[in-house]
Amino acid sequence: MYRTHNCGELNIKNLTAKVQLSGWVHKIRNKGFIIWVDLRDRYGSTQLIFDQDRTSESLINKAKTIGREFVISIKGSVIERKSKNPNISTGEIEILVSELNILNKSLTPPFTIEDESDGGEELRMKYRYLDIRRKPIKENLIFRHKVTQEVRNYLTNINFVEVETPYLIKSTPEGARDFIVPSRMNNGEFYALPQSPQTFKQLLMVAGMDKYFQIVKCFRDEDLRADRQPEFTQIDCEMSFVTQQDVLNTFEGLVRHLFLKIKNIKLNKFDVISYDDAIKKYGTDKPDLRYAMNFIELNEIAKNRDFNVFNNAELIVGFLIKGGNEFTRKDIDNYIDWVKQPQIGAGGLIYLRIQDDGVLKSSVDKFYNQNDLEKWVKAFDGNKGDLIFILSGESEKVRTQLGALRVHVADNLKLAKADTFYPLWVVDFPLLEWDEESESFHAMHHPFTSPKKEQIDLISTNPESVKAQAYDLVLNGNEIGGGSIRIHDKNIQKQMFDCLGFTKEEAEKQFGFLMNAFEYGAPPHGGIAFGLDRLVAVMQGNEIIRDFIAFPKNNSGRDIMIDSPSTVSDEQLKELNLKNIK
Ligand code: AMO
Repeated sequence: MYRTHNCGELNIKNLTAKVQLSGWVHKIRNKGFIIWVDLRDRYGSTQLIFDQDRTSESLINKAKTIGREFVISIKGSVIERKSKNPNISTGEIEILVSELNILNKSLTPPFTIEDESDGGEELRMKYRYLDIRRKPIKENLIFRHKVTQEVRNYLTNINFVEVETPYLIKSTPEGARDFIVPSRMNNGEFYALPQSPQTFKQLLMVAGMDKYFQIVKCFRDEDLRADRQPEFTQIDCEMSFVTQQDVLNTFEGLVRHLFLKIKNIKLNKFDVISYDDAIKKYGTDKPDLRYAMNFIELNEIAKNRDFNVFNNAELIVGFLIKGGNEFTRKDIDNYIDWVKQPQIGAGGLIYLRIQDDGVLKSSVDKFYNQNDLEKWVKAFDGNKGDLIFILSGESEKVRTQLGALRVHVADNLKLAKADTFYPLWVVDFPLLEWDEESESFHAMHHPFTSPKKEQIDLISTNPESVKAQAYDLVLNGNEIGGGSIRIHDKNIQKQMFDCLGFTKEEAEKQFGFLMNAFEYGAPPHGGIAFGLDRLVAVMQGNEIIRDFIAFPKNNSGRDIMIDSPSTVSDEQLKELNLKNIK
């Protein structure tokens, strides 16, 4: 037997109890005649005391041999502590040790196993099993578990069935590159790992499963960022006989349930905004609405003076920063430099201060008088003490630039509170987007997404104008989920493949199995997939999904703990008929 209790369990009510605990040595304080040890496990930490007056010399000597992260098991009795620690549940007691068993030694860990560790990211990743011993990472994993547990409860209660779909498949078109796996038994042929179970979940609808979900790994070979991993997890869902509104209602229900049950937060009804409005008002399809700073367009009132930058611009647009007149000249110069950096690419930034005395002061005073500027202030509904930032140029570019500036200002002013949650449905996405490189249309969501019913005919005449029955869930500026109502009519699906430039043969080769299935009574269906890693990170006020994944990859897609990817032996390559690849 190793333990009667865990290390987070004992308290003053257990006084005098004879107990046995096992765990890792967290901290040792050796006063010579008294030794205190903090013993840690997943559940908490309990203080042990080895006291010369109350224990044998041999026990004290044995205690002196233990080091940090040793695994030990002790027997002893629960006594009241002299100096109490109100911050932990076991803080009023300690264990007077009568027996010590060293179960395993440990090397000195390469970084401190503390909430704030001295280890850098790479080092912690290399020794991830030690990193997970740290409370923040451990708690993130436990939080993630709670979320998946509640997802399963909620969806099961409303009749969803969890079905596993295969990992060795062929390409799914989610817009990233596939990871491919050579097949030994089928020489020269390859599987692809799923970018999502999209086609399978649609087949499950044809199969009559009606409501499907799966908490599932997806694989995408794309450039990595804080919110992207090459393998990540989706809560993948699909439903039959539903409209877009049914899907939104069902999954708004899920997200509200998760927040209430796990964080005790009652979310308001989710706002809905169209893709076009999101771009026009915030310069992004994933606006963070924890703060306002929505865009106001000034073409009507700012053109036709001597300021040619504006006269020649397709769009003049800005946002107002409440209280922003407090920015110093230097602050503003920094913002000007920031928008000019190549990653943002703006030519310059115009500002307008509404000074506390009401006088308007802008960087284009030469071209605009107070009357002109007052019109701007009115458009922004500005007040004394506010500041307005304005960019101009080609519409699409300038909106993206201003969108980035909006987020940057909000970051600097700490406007986005980590414990405030603003979920938002973004709907009416364009069905297609033009790809300059390949000079062809791409499906903005994926090629199975249904156009708006009333716009189906436009696919052949004016494809760019067609909107999709597609939606994203955005939470605090992060795309947490996305989905659509699917095409269930094989003729429309064919039309879509045509428009995307697939020849009949290519469509048949890649998606023939789905088109065939659609010949056998496909129900109307639709669904959504949430990025589980992103959801749990954002729920905890974080955007770095690595912190919520037990064994993540670094930004070059490497697992530095197991040192992967790695080369393989010549024999393996030969077996796979890949021996020329080295
Ligand atoms: P989509 O491609 O929008 O939709 O993906 C759904 C959600 O998955 C998350 N996500 C990622 N998370 C971490 N790392 C990545 N590399 C990554 N890529 C995507 C995002 C995203 O919103 N089959 C469709 C869903 C459907 O139509 O039902 C799909 O996969 O949070």
